[in-house]
Amino acid sequence: MQDAATITDSAKALIELDSAPDLGKSSAFEGIVGESTTMQEIFRLVERVADSDSTILINGETGTGKGLIAHAIHKQSYRKDQPFVSINCGAIPENLLESELFGHLKGAFTGATANKVGKFEAANGGTIFLDEIGDMSQDLQVKILKVLEERCFEPVGGCKTVSVNVRIVAATHRDLEEEVQKGNFREDLFYRLFVIPIKLPSLRQRRSDIPHFVTHFLDCLNRTKKTRVTSISDDALNVLMQHAWPGNVRELANLMERMVVIKGQGEIDLDDLPEKMKNDAPASSFCAPEITGDGLCLNTAVSEFEKRLIYQSLEKTKWVKNRAAQLLQVKRTTLVEKIKRYELQKCA
Ligand SMILES: Nc1ncnc2c1ncn2[C@@H]1O[C@H](COP(=O)(O)OP(=O)(O)OP(=O)(O)O)[C@@H](O)[C@H]1O
Ligand SMILES: [Mg+2]
Repeated sequence: MQDAATITDSAKALIELDSAPDLGKSSAFEGIVGESTTMQEIFRLVERVADSDSTILINGETGTGKGLIAHAIHKQSYRKDQPFVSINCGAIPENLLESELFGHLKGAFTGATANKVGKFEAANGGTIFLDEIGDMSQDLQVKILKVLEERCFEPVGGCKTVSVNVRIVAATHRDLEEEVQKGNFREDLFYRLFVIPIKLPSLRQRRSDIPHFVTHFLDCLNRTKKTRVTSISDDALNVLMQHAWPGNVRELANLMERMVVIKGQGEIDLDDLPEKMKNDAPASSFCAPEITGDGLCLNTAVSEFEKRLIYQSLEKTKWVKNRAAQLLQVKRTTLVEKIKRYELQKCA
């Protein structure tokens, strides 16, 4: 397995600015990589709420691991030996979704040649994962609301009510509060779902996890693809650390697969990265964090920005504080005070 020694010094510096994880102790939670403070807090939250049976609403951009977290909730709960049934509410045509969710009786509609058990019934005793719930039609939103409230439903074409015992986990990449305001999502359903919200950070909001992902994917890919790629160079990793990752972990996983398979063995270097990524890197390194539906703390964001600039000036001047203070056009005493406040340290 690739070990922490392959994480380069400059990458470590960038990591320290984020949440200073211990690179020697990379431990995935239910196969989910995440050493950053935010992800560790999410793992602890999952552990705390798993057994509660409370409805959970997972929100995050595409590729941030919503599906993985939903599965982890199930696996951590007392329902873990019962079914985990997942349905993508955005991918099934609206006229079929009701029958998929609640099942149908033979003859309920043209083509219903036999009785069919729906996802809710199939999940009885376990967990149902309603993925992309924000893409559900208004009509179905009413029907889902009833199941959430009463844990019972009628199959399409049937008049007998079926009761189920299921834990509901839902996910969406949309800002549901905003969708409620726009009139696209029912407010009553929103509050039914919004019992325990879990907000997954984008990859650019937790850059310190990138080296851990690289190690994780190198290890997995070498095993599954029978390759012998040993490491990634300092320069290449720095580019990955600075990329904006609009496709989040999925984008990183796919890129790693492409590079590992093509390279086959040895070290991944700058030349192995896509041309576009190398050119984009400097521009995205200091991009402003995204303001999500939850908002952000301006003071924290500004402090983070200041911390990064101070660290950069110290690196540029080999930690000669007089020079670093000149670069930033501040007094040396001001700089020293900020270095102390942010607990900045020279990387070994
Ligand atoms: N923290 C993580 N650790 C390991 N692999 C991860 C992590 N997060 C995401 N992945 C991987 O990235 C890919 C996308 O994850 P997943 O499908 O759970 O994301 P998602 O948020 O549900 O995306 P979408 O909104 O597109 O459905 C998967 O291959 C998953 O294994
Ligand atoms: Mg998903």
